[in-house]
Amino acid sequence: MKSQMKNIMAFAALAALTTFSLARADDTTSQSGMAKAQQLASTVCVACHGADGNSASPNFPKLAGQQPEYITKQLMNFKSGARTNPIMQGIVTSNNLTPDDMKNLGIYFSQQTIKPGAAKDKTLAEEGEKIFKGGDAATGTPACAACHGPTGAGIPSEFPRLAGQHAAYIYAQLNNFRLGDRSNDGGKMMRTIAARLTDHEMKAVADYVSGLQ
Ligand code: HEC
Ligand code: HEC
Repeated sequence: MKSQMKNIMAFAALAALTTFSLARADDTTSQSGMAKAQQLASTVCVACHGADGNSASPNFPKLAGQQPEYITKQLMNFKSGARTNPIMQGIVTSNNLTPDDMKNLGIYFSQQTIKPGAAKDKTLAEEGEKIFKGGDAATGTPACAACHGPTGAGIPSEFPRLAGQHAAYIYAQLNNFRLGDRSNDGGKMMRTIAARLTDHEMKAVADYVSGLQ
């Protein structure tokens, strides 16, 4: 019993030591990696998304406060062609973004603070709130909150933040999912849902989430 305890203690000490040295190694690579990500953000991404991920134009999604794994996945999807967009595919290719760059860009933008938006049409946003929180039993639409979180902040690591995003961008993506122009959603999750929404409902839920904080 006593020696078993000793073994466990020794194992725990070894495990702690290993974790410690692994963490150290990670820190050094990520320090130069993070510096590169920051540089890419302020020289490349800045043109459309803003250096801090708060894009001024609704044509470009805000990246600030987005789930890091989601950002990385989208960059990988642009690279592989699983998500098609000529602009972003060009950015990923011409800058030779490596998997490490994509990971660090995800971390960098997730750590920036998103500038809040506001819903533009009160009646429309109220309709959107109902869909977001409760879905629509008649059409079998699930509540967006179930996957994107009660405040739209997203849920690590699969479900992106919607809160504070430009309404026009949200609407455009829902439309892309509905038409099948965007098909990088695992298990067709978003394509199935978007197919159940009317154009009006998409606009309503887009207006609502743009004002979520
Ligand atoms: C010339 C403009 C432009 C530049 C520069 C640019 N992007 Fe984009 N980005 C876009 C557009 C447009 C979209 C929306 C694509 C779509 O509609 O599918 C986008 C989408 C994205 C998305 C998906 C966001 C989401 O919510 O799904 C990520 C992630 C992204 N960009 C990261 C970056 C990073 C990182 C850089 C810098 C290395 C960068 N972009 C540079 C135009 C740009
Ligand atoms: C079953 C889970 C689930 C539900 C419910 C759900 N989503 Fe999603 N949604 C996802 C996943 C997963 C993705 C990311 C797909 C990918 O990896 O590109 C996503 C992505 C999105 C995007 C793209 C975000 C971006 O930055 O490009 C929008 C917009 C969106 N969802 C809106 C909605 C709305 C509106 C509802 C409710 C009507 C909803 N979602 C319900 C799982 C869900």
